[in-house]
Amino acid sequence: LFATGGEFLKGVVAMSGMPPADRVEVCFAGRSNVGKSTLINALTGRKALARASNTPGRTQEINFFTLADSHYLVDLPGYGFANAPVKEVAKWQALLKAYLAGRPSLRRAFVLIDARHGPKDVDEEIMSLLDASAVTFQAVLTKADKVKEAEREKVLDRTRATLAKHPAAFPELIVTSSEKGWGIPTLRSVI
Ligand code: GTP
Ligand code: MG
Repeated sequence: LFATGGEFLKGVVAMSGMPPADRVEVCFAGRSNVGKSTLINALTGRKALARASNTPGRTQEINFFTLADSHYLVDLPGYGFANAPVKEVAKWQALLKAYLAGRPSLRRAFVLIDARHGPKDVDEEIMSLLDASAVTFQAVLTKADKVKEAEREKVLDRTRATLAKHPAAFPELIVTSSEKGWGIPTLRSVI
């Protein structure tokens, strides 16, 4: 599946612009700057398929990538970031929520959590939305290369405790570093 590399299909700014819901679809949700776009690049083995950046709020549309003829990988705008015009933020947050709650072909959401910080209130908000929408989600810790092992274990425990409160959460979480390639084969096999 991943040997094909993946291709950018389109950026969507309204539910009416969604491609047909005719493939296996997984999405990458998470706070701004957590590493969603970078993870898609690591998964597909393409350096700049999804635009990654040091500037939080880089991804402002819902970006669809095709994988072979069977899958969509979906890069979502980050949440929990306010340094943009209020109206703009409100618009893309509403789109994000409409997508997560109402996309029939969405098979799993990956909720990305920074391995240095663990889950925040905004992450729990998204998890509750996914619970209410009956969308199975799986937590993915990102930037694991930036934390020491002992610290990572603490964050893992805290994340597991959070997941236990959410009925739509898949119990196993995946620890990744896009930089080092950690967890990428696991995540590929899950997809
Ligand atoms: P938005 O589109 O703004 O929501 O951000 P995003 O979640 O797509 O984050 P993005 O992939 O743009 O990455 C943000 C920054 O984190 C970039 O500078 C990346 O290089 C860096 N980064 C992402 N993943 C990793 C990782 O595994 N390790 C390290 N060290 N840095 C990472
Ligand atoms: Mg992004």
